[in-house]
Amino acid sequence: MKAGVVGIGRALPDKVVTNADFEARGLDTTDDWIVRRTGIRERHHLEPEDQAGALATEAAREALADAGLGADELDHIIVTTITPDWITPGLAPRVADDLGVGAGAVDLNGACAGFVYALDHASALIEAGRASAVLVVSCDILSRITDFEDRSTAVLFGDGAGAAILTGGEFARGVAAAELGSDYQVDQLNAPIGGFLGMNGRSVYTNAVDRMAQATRAVLEREGLTVDDLDLFVAHQANQRILDATAAQLGVPAEKLVSNVDRVANTSSASIPLALRDAESDGRLEPGMLVGLAAFGAGYVWGATVIGWKEDRA
Ligand SMILES: CC(C)(COP(=O)(O)OP(=O)(O)OC[C@H]1O[C@@H](n2cnc3c(N)ncnc32)[C@H](O)[C@@H]1OP(=O)(O)O)[C@@H](O)C(=O)NCCC(=O)NCCS
Repeated sequence: MKAGVVGIGRALPDKVVTNADFEARGLDTTDDWIVRRTGIRERHHLEPEDQAGALATEAAREALADAGLGADELDHIIVTTITPDWITPGLAPRVADDLGVGAGAVDLNGACAGFVYALDHASALIEAGRASAVLVVSCDILSRITDFEDRSTAVLFGDGAGAAILTGGEFARGVAAAELGSDYQVDQLNAPIGGFLGMNGRSVYTNAVDRMAQATRAVLEREGLTVDDLDLFVAHQANQRILDATAAQLGVPAEKLVSNVDRVANTSSASIPLALRDAESDGRLEPGMLVGLAAFGAGYVWGATVIGWKEDRA
């Protein structure tokens, strides 16, 4: 029995904030600087009165419909977030309630790497026979912890939610056990309780590239694969330079590198499922493809895995 991804969904807030909007607000920045240094052109922001939980549920519903699964078939719900609506309760019980089910529901804080960690946990539950269908929702509202007076961080982040459904089956590849790691560097990237996200951009940049590349190499080697076997590579959408440098270190050609960072910016843990969903709707991701995933975030924490996309259950 393997675990496989059988459905994907996304939700983005309606409000779009362009680089020009930051200029118009008087922030000391330019569209040219932001595009050159990050590749970001616009991002979505949730209105302050709106709830992350509603966005997470919207993504979950789309993933369930995509999988052709009823919410009552879910055994377990994991929501990854660093920006829940309440310190407690988490977003997951809210999503379960919105879906009208009482399944096990828990939040996981894996910062920008949350989705890869949650995929690993969900797959382990399925492989161990403890669950047959698991919903993973990654939902982050970084606008809530962004200092919009600080140009070095204000332009980098966006809000969004992405969701995936995993079920058990005799999949050809399924979801490979992830290569996960951590290295406690709280001074380099953090958000204090009640405060704003701050970081040493250079250190984050270098570590993100090196750790995502190392973890990807490790999982490929363990699975008896090479970079050439991958049909697509979806890394955490921090910014275009990080994506390009990681791909270059691994030897992933540009046509296999997925990027939607120009449209959504860095959406923390939501970034990988959003990129998968966009790659699919752009016609770049098809059933049976082999996809490499790599993520990195505050901790530092990181992870990489390889998945077969919507494979036949056989
Ligand atoms: C943030 C990042 C884009 C900055 O790029 P960089 O090339 O390293 O730029 P620097 O930090 O060296 O700053 C260069 C100059 O641009 C300025 N600058 C920073 N943000 C700016 C902005 N939005 N607009 C204009 N200028 C800006 C800096 O103040 C600095 O000015 P100075 O030379 O007068 O001091 C880059 O470090 C990065 O991608 N880091 C990782 C960020 C990230 O993705 N974090 C989350 C990961 S999960």
